[in-house]
Amino acid sequence: MKIAVIGTGYVGLPTGVGFAELGNEVVCIDKIPEKINDLNNGKITLYEQGLEELFLKNKENGRLKFTTNLADGVKGAEVIIIAVGTPTHPVTKEADMKYIHAAAGELSEHIKSYVVVAVKSTVPVGTGDDVEEIISQGKPNSDFDVVSLPEFLREGFAVEDFFNPDRIVIGADSEKAKQKLKELYAPFEGKTNFLFVSRKSSETIKYASNSFLAIKVHYINEMSNFCEKSGANIEEVAMGMGLDTRIGPKFLQPGPGYGGSCFPKDTLAMSCMARKYGVHLNLVETAIRHNELRKADMALRIVDAVGDIKHPRVAVLGLTFKGGTDDVRESPAMDIVEELLRYGLSLKVYDPKGMENAKPMLHDRVYYAKDVEDACAGTDLCVILTEWEEFKKLNFPVLKHNMRSPRIIDMRNLLNSAEINLAGLEYKCLGRLC
Ligand code: UGA
Repeated sequence: MKIAVIGTGYVGLPTGVGFAELGNEVVCIDKIPEKINDLNNGKITLYEQGLEELFLKNKENGRLKFTTNLADGVKGAEVIIIAVGTPTHPVTKEADMKYIHAAAGELSEHIKSYVVVAVKSTVPVGTGDDVEEIISQGKPNSDFDVVSLPEFLREGFAVEDFFNPDRIVIGADSEKAKQKLKELYAPFEGKTNFLFVSRKSSETIKYASNSFLAIKVHYINEMSNFCEKSGANIEEVAMGMGLDTRIGPKFLQPGPGYGGSCFPKDTLAMSCMARKYGVHLNLVETAIRHNELRKADMALRIVDAVGDIKHPRVAVLGLTFKGGTDDVRESPAMDIVEELLRYGLSLKVYDPKGMENAKPMLHDRVYYAKDVEDACAGTDLCVILTEWEEFKKLNFPVLKHNMRSPRIIDMRNLLNSAEINLAGLEYKCLGRLC
């Protein structure tokens, strides 16, 4: 099938590559010429595990193409997937629809025969109606359907999630569009759950899922605070809770707060959207507020741990919002770093994938270390803020030797406290005595 994907970000690019790998002819379209140049020259523009190989393979075999020219890109496409950003509006805090509306307006003039326009971006309820209206106004009497096709790809695992989805949700109010998408997703038939719902339900499912997961993370962080005071162990508590199939074991890992380009934006958008309908989502609003407070609390713990050391130096391991990605957008680690800088601490930072993306935000206010050892050398405290595999293999005797005061605060509970104590380092983590 011929497909066009508008937007080559963390959603659009893995989606385009994935559909090409399934045998479709895919054209990815983006307005940024530098990005398209890089992609056309075989240079991948973002890090996703396993994506580069598939990208190169499908570019090579001619099933995957890139262009800045929308007219060329959508020519002959049977499905046009809109995967542009819907960032938080700086003033209203709602999802900003300007890129969606622009894409709908621009593509309308290029519709020649029946096409399904599938909105993959995370969008408020009713966006499908707006897109439909914009296209109809742009080109009256054109033959098309607009469907909602929410994506549930996790950053860092986008390729794995694309090929092994928990469910495929299709919000289509027309039978013809439903059939076209069934055809597109035929390779997944019998391998996953298909859910055909109304367009509005589909738009809501995405926000409701992300908000629920954000609340789950907030909840386990609260339980972690409780365990620290009560003497219980959050890992044992999470394990006990997770064995209840109604709760499930996932998203019960305490941390420095949730972040990334989805949860913070989507919880805000969900609560704004609900307020417009006169509904207060108290749980969502509480999670939003307390997730902000958590990051400040984590920074304060670090400052307290440094105590009254003169000219303290702190090693920060991890800048991305989670492991397996190079994305530092809305990263709790970045917010904590900013807070520590406000407290006047001198920081040596290291992240396996996120350094380049962090530099335009942190400039020369921190020391950029080349590896873990370099980051920790001469410091008074080492703080782990992101759950990278690499950090699980810290060489404790080397750290003990190289650090000015050998102490670790592990805000992802990655390390084994017995081993660290044996090596003679001080260790603190979340939700339990260490
Ligand atoms: C999230 C959803 O998980 C995807 O299903 C969805 O498609 C995606 O948003 C999206 O809307 O595009 P993602 O933003 O990649 O995916 O990140 P998650 O893996 O969900 O993690 C979000 C945040 O919660 C991270 O900061 C992570 O460290 C934190 N988290 C997650 C915890 O602190 N504890 C946990 O147990 C789980």
